[in-house]
Amino acid sequence: MSSRNEAAKQLEKWKIQNEEKIGFATNSAGIPIVNAKTSLTIGKYGRIPLQDWQLIEHLSHFNRERIPERVVHAKGAGAFGYFECTKELSAYTVSKVFEAVDKRTSIAVRFSVVAGNLGSADTVRDPRGFALKFYTDEGIWDLVGNNTPIFFMRDPILFPMFIHSQKRNPVTNLRDWDAFWDYISLTPMSVHQVMFLFSDRGIPKSYRHQHGFGSHTFSLINKDRKLTWCKFIYKTDQGIENLDPEEAEKIAGRDPDYAVRDLYESISEVDGYIKKYPSWTFYVQLMTPEQAKLQKFNPFDITKVWPHKEFPLIEVGRFVLNRNASNNFAEIEQLAFSPNNLSPGVGASPDRLLQGRLFAYQDAHRYRLGANFQQIPVNKPINLTNNFQRDGFMCSFNQGGAPNYYPNSFGGPNSDPFAESWTPPPEYVAGFENYYPEFYEEDNYSQPRVFWEQVLDEGPKNRLVHNLAGAIKLANRTIQERTLDVFNNVSDDLGVLLKELVFNDAKIIQF
Ligand code: NDP
Ligand code: HEM
Repeated sequence: MSSRNEAAKQLEKWKIQNEEKIGFATNSAGIPIVNAKTSLTIGKYGRIPLQDWQLIEHLSHFNRERIPERVVHAKGAGAFGYFECTKELSAYTVSKVFEAVDKRTSIAVRFSVVAGNLGSADTVRDPRGFALKFYTDEGIWDLVGNNTPIFFMRDPILFPMFIHSQKRNPVTNLRDWDAFWDYISLTPMSVHQVMFLFSDRGIPKSYRHQHGFGSHTFSLINKDRKLTWCKFIYKTDQGIENLDPEEAEKIAGRDPDYAVRDLYESISEVDGYIKKYPSWTFYVQLMTPEQAKLQKFNPFDITKVWPHKEFPLIEVGRFVLNRNASNNFAEIEQLAFSPNNLSPGVGASPDRLLQGRLFAYQDAHRYRLGANFQQIPVNKPINLTNNFQRDGFMCSFNQGGAPNYYPNSFGGPNSDPFAESWTPPPEYVAGFENYYPEFYEEDNYSQPRVFWEQVLDEGPKNRLVHNLAGAIKLANRTIQERTLDVFNNVSDDLGVLLKELVFNDAKIIQF
């Protein structure tokens, strides 16, 4: 990018803001650095002694600059802002986020592309991660969503397998279209999400021009421990805009960081004139436990949506992104979202995929950032944490002299006496412990059929089949045929159209 936009001027702006404050260079122990551009040598052309602590610390810290990238969603961008409640929800939840109209809660948001590595292009066909961290008065609430209301699978055991099939082939180190379509065609529960992915919305124009979805079914708990099932939806105020695949391909070459740049620019200040900050309107869909029992579909299956007509969107808030990170590594790369961070009033559900995610993320963070990742400023709750966890790598808050065991007779900390009011009501659960393979095959086609037959018009349908055919063409013949069978099960005419294009002349465009 040649234009001197806000991102390009970051260093100049830093200089102006910090001119008075810039002190002398020191090492990390605060000891003044003698010469920042020369190593210590014995004689002008001589060797470097081990005594050159300045050089040794400098080189060894550099060697440790990279932490593991996220195993998925490695490439992304983030920002900060606030959530504003526009409809109080106390009938359903004790959550402080929804306790009063106009109540504001600080948030962090990270957008991401799923399959690519850290340096990959932003404008590829891939779901976009859309994760929200709410710094509530009562702890962190992480809503770790995507730009689609559904997902590729309903059982967490499939996630690593699915991801392997989408990432690099271990021999060629390239994306492998046999693996891609092999997995998809052997797992028809993925077809709903695959159709979203290859539709126009599969390549959003930017992170700002897309909706977000908590996707799973969550629970809301009110002060009487009454439970209501809930979906969270955040709709873009910028309007949905997508990229034409050929344009996306060009941008990927010209500016692989296109979406990162767009987000940064949209939030930056220009000559004192504040741009219109990106914002989203926040909705819930609600379902009572009694309604849940009457549904023809499983409301806890993330491959399904809740139809809007029966479960209308209820507007409850909006959020605005108005601050870029002051340092990307500190505040975005180290951001850690955990679906198990559910602050009072919001809970989990029997959604099997969510159950798996309640474990997976904190485990990932302990590997990527260490046992004390929640002490990193950007992950820290705004309220005080009091517990019995101690020590570990990079511990910066070890709770002083407070008792590190419980029960104790030294004043606690004791359990929250109000917690009973927001724990979910007791639930009777019984069943035979077993593997249930029929769960794999459960109603894979009814909603994709509605999407094809009732949601998409002729133009979007046409583009969907062309996008699909172009990608299916890249797999081998057996896999192509099996994949076509899956789409044929969605709808006969979709199958016929696809077959025609795959075995005749679909133009291959970018994915
Ligand atoms: P509605 O007609 O009320 O809603 C259709 C939804 O489809 C709208 O939310 C619309 O989003 C969205 N949509 C339109 N084009 C695309 C696309 N290319 N990719 C993804 N979403 C798109 O229908 P129902 O609620 O009865 O659901 C019918 C079908 O619509 C479902 O089977 C599902 O496939 C799809 N759908 C449903 C959603 C839901 O939560 N109920 C959400 C998204 C899709 P917008 O309003 O922004 O234009
Ligand atoms: C990131 C696992 C399903 C959205 C991640 C990470 C892991 C993971 C390990 C990397 C975390 C990190 O290192 O910080 C899983 C597993 C899933 C699953 C095991 C299924 C069982 C989903 C679903 C969604 C989703 C259904 C959305 C609805 C995200 C997002 C990120 C992410 C947005 C990036 C968060 C960030 O910006 O830091 N996932 N995931 N994942 N996942 Fe999932």
